[in-house]
Amino acid sequence: MTAVRTPGKFHSPLAIGAPEPLRALPVRLERMIHFVPPHNQKIRAKLADIAGKVDVVLGNLEDAIAADEKEEARAGFIDMARNTDFGSTGLWTRINCLNSPWMLDDVINIVSEVGDRVDVIMLPKVEGPWDIHYLDQLLAQLEAKHHVSKPIMIHAILETAEGVKNVEDIAAASPRMHGMSLGPADLAASRGMKTTRVGGGHPDYSVLADAGDDGAARARYQQDLWHYTVARMVDACLAYGLKPFYGPFGDFSDAAACEAQFRNAFLQGCLGAWSLHPSQITIAKKVFSPDPGEVLFAKKILEAMPDGTGAVMIDGKMQDDATWKQAKVIVDLAKLVASKDPDLASAYQL
Ligand code: GLV
Ligand code: MG
Repeated sequence: MTAVRTPGKFHSPLAIGAPEPLRALPVRLERMIHFVPPHNQKIRAKLADIAGKVDVVLGNLEDAIAADEKEEARAGFIDMARNTDFGSTGLWTRINCLNSPWMLDDVINIVSEVGDRVDVIMLPKVEGPWDIHYLDQLLAQLEAKHHVSKPIMIHAILETAEGVKNVEDIAAASPRMHGMSLGPADLAASRGMKTTRVGGGHPDYSVLADAGDDGAARARYQQDLWHYTVARMVDACLAYGLKPFYGPFGDFSDAAACEAQFRNAFLQGCLGAWSLHPSQITIAKKVFSPDPGEVLFAKKILEAMPDGTGAVMIDGKMQDDATWKQAKVIVDLAKLVASKDPDLASAYQL
């Protein structure tokens, strides 16, 4: 059995003077984590506008930022954190990975300069709980030193074969854990998968229908390459009260495929996805806000079973304590969406 800290120590700050770890995640709508390149001044100038359209803005320092732009990106992130009013929109950063030459300065500079403004640090290429323990301790020391008043949360990217093997231990590693995102590009490389796509399906990953006697063409049904990993991630996250997310979808020209991939993740339990292009903000908003018809039906279930027990029939469908809980998941999410979106609030009749 893996050794774990005693409950008292698990919930105590890891450095004298660091803020108390949270006991439960803050309730926040995080349908899309919108990636921006912080060294791009034109984008920085538009940030107040972007922040009004998304649930989370993430300043990306890792992959897609060239080695000779890493320091500019870090400085750009500090500038945007200091000088933008993000309102109720979350502010995250994706730092460089633990074995890179930039990670230590990413964390030290960001926490010392804008530690009170950052909600979540996304840590790439997490392989096991030891990666979380290291960042956890470092953050506590820096929070104490710079008098940061609320703990900065950690979001792990699940994108190596070893990380998937250790996914439950990563989820359990610290009360600082916010959640996880699937990283299909790095994961494909790490596993030796034979795809060059960033997320989404692959036409050759499919099931062929049986041959008939008539010699007619056989149907081929494409399968979801990411089903297994998303399912493992959702179970690990929900077992520990964390939030699971689908990650990037690289083909910006295929909105329908992006929507289908996001929807599979939503139906499996994910709460959001990354948006790497403005068009994906709209897709994520559509997919990760529950469907109005589903919300109205869920409300009927809750109203028909005020104390959540027993069995009733609604529109010919059996409802009981378990479907009441399913309905509550949908209605709770709808209320959160309604608090931010007046159009959906009226569609949900909330
Ligand atoms: C994201 O970081 C990925 O590797 O897919
Ligand atoms: Mg990656």
